[in-house]
Amino acid sequence: MNEKQRKEHTAQIKAATNPADRKSDKDYAKYFETTYQPPSLKDAKKRGKEDVKVHRGYDIPEDMVGIGKNKKFYIRTYGCQMNEHDTEVMAGILSEMGFENTDSTNEADIILLNTCAVRENAENKVFGEIGHLKVLKRDKPDLILGVCGCMSQEEGVVNRLLQKHQQVDLIFGTHNIHRLPQLLREAMFGKERVVEVWSKEGDIIENLPKIRSGNIKGWVNIMYGCDKFCTYCIVPYTRGKERSRRPEDIIEEVRHLARQGYKEITLLGQNVNAYGKDFDDMKYGLGDLMDEIRKIDIPRIRFTTSHPRDFDDHLIEVLAKGGNLMDHIHLPVQSGSTEMLKIMSRKYTREQYLELVRKIKAAIPNVALTTDIIVGFPNETEEQFEETLSLYREVEYDSAYTFVYSPREGTPAADMVDNVPLEVKKERLQRLNALVNEFSAKKNKQIEGQVVEVLVEGESKNNPEILAGYTSKNKLVNFRGPKSVIGEIVKVRITSAKTWTLDGEMIKDEEGVTNNG
Ligand code: SAH
Ligand code: SF4
Ligand code: F3S
Repeated sequence: MNEKQRKEHTAQIKAATNPADRKSDKDYAKYFETTYQPPSLKDAKKRGKEDVKVHRGYDIPEDMVGIGKNKKFYIRTYGCQMNEHDTEVMAGILSEMGFENTDSTNEADIILLNTCAVRENAENKVFGEIGHLKVLKRDKPDLILGVCGCMSQEEGVVNRLLQKHQQVDLIFGTHNIHRLPQLLREAMFGKERVVEVWSKEGDIIENLPKIRSGNIKGWVNIMYGCDKFCTYCIVPYTRGKERSRRPEDIIEEVRHLARQGYKEITLLGQNVNAYGKDFDDMKYGLGDLMDEIRKIDIPRIRFTTSHPRDFDDHLIEVLAKGGNLMDHIHLPVQSGSTEMLKIMSRKYTREQYLELVRKIKAAIPNVALTTDIIVGFPNETEEQFEETLSLYREVEYDSAYTFVYSPREGTPAADMVDNVPLEVKKERLQRLNALVNEFSAKKNKQIEGQVVEVLVEGESKNNPEILAGYTSKNKLVNFRGPKSVIGEIVKVRITSAKTWTLDGEMIKDEEGVTNNG
């Protein structure tokens, strides 16, 4: 951000904050010097060569310990698993400050919206929620309403919040979650709204406190950020450059979860296949990491999200060892057309993707593959869209997340001329979804009559009489059984397949597993 833009920003925010609360303009200027750091998508794009340091000690400032006694916090999470895990960290920090968790916004003294910027409708939901919360804030002026997560990393969003949403007291981003105690101190005791967003990622902070949302399955970050810069995607701007956690820190965290009785862990990163590429002192990738982690006594290990480009043979070799490495790979393809993939800057062709799928299927027979697909990318032709359909048929995915392309400010695709009308995009999405449903039903049908292992997570959402859990291929199974098996892996015979879920009956442990689930 240049000097002129900075001045404009300052003026905008000055107009947006309440002058009556201001002691003097000098204080105000000082406040800006210390707390207001406007995000910049342009700065976020710059990838520096400077080393990322790892900090292993983390303390809540003394004066903030116990500050939340008799107070409650509520965090609403939007977006991906990365955000869900960040919420667990924020819950951990707040709990160490004495705050208690609540599920009710009415009871909360602090409300944080952990936001997602990946598509426009994700952002609209957040603005809708901020609107609803205005009433709460009016009745309870001491309530702190904070917005964090990926939307806070966008300059346009921060400006809109400051200008139009007076009820928001605190804005911080994805790179400074560890500063939550300091930011809350300012929000609780200062007179101004607090905005602190770092455009650039900082160091890796280990040992942040966490309150995990469950005690059966746990998330483990292996890396942060993304350097791929697919032309449609905002994530490299909101999450910064790729930074890998050291293997010893990851392994220690997984061991800790195993000791606590967790049954499943999912290794997390925006592009986990780039794991280790940023180490300059050793050659160590995702395959090496998985090979070490699989030796830990934990029943199930998953990872997400894979990028096809960096998916190497060593990883396939390790995954083929099976055991606690689950036979499901989420492998986003985005499009089946090489031309589209090129404009999306995915850095692989249709043929290269299919070759990777062939190798994976050869090494891991019966593997379940799922994917992400975008339809209606700028200028996508009917033929190019049909290539996506034909690729889907060829790979025979178990399932897919499908999206209509949504332009994101600051990304290269947002500046592309687009000749595809919205109705056409929507119609393509419907056609694709019909195919996704067809394959999901077909794949599920193949499991009918088989015996599968299910990690039981709890009661089914719709019926407390029924238990629900997931197979190794991550398929949801509903069945009757005693509550005592919640948290255990049990054998279930699949009696009936639906499009998205499976029904089954629990069987005795001695009976064999067909393990096709
Ligand atoms: N890091 C992961 C996914 C990140 S976002 C990966 O690379 O696979 C999850 C999915 O959202 C993407 O795979 C993509 O299909 C979709 N997506 C991302 N940006 C989008 C946009 N601008 N419009 C529509 N869908 C988008
Ligand atoms: Fe976005 Fe591409 Fe990075 Fe995935 S790999 S987060 S789609 S830029
Ligand atoms: Fe959304 Fe940020 Fe995840 S944009 S998808 S919450 S990394």
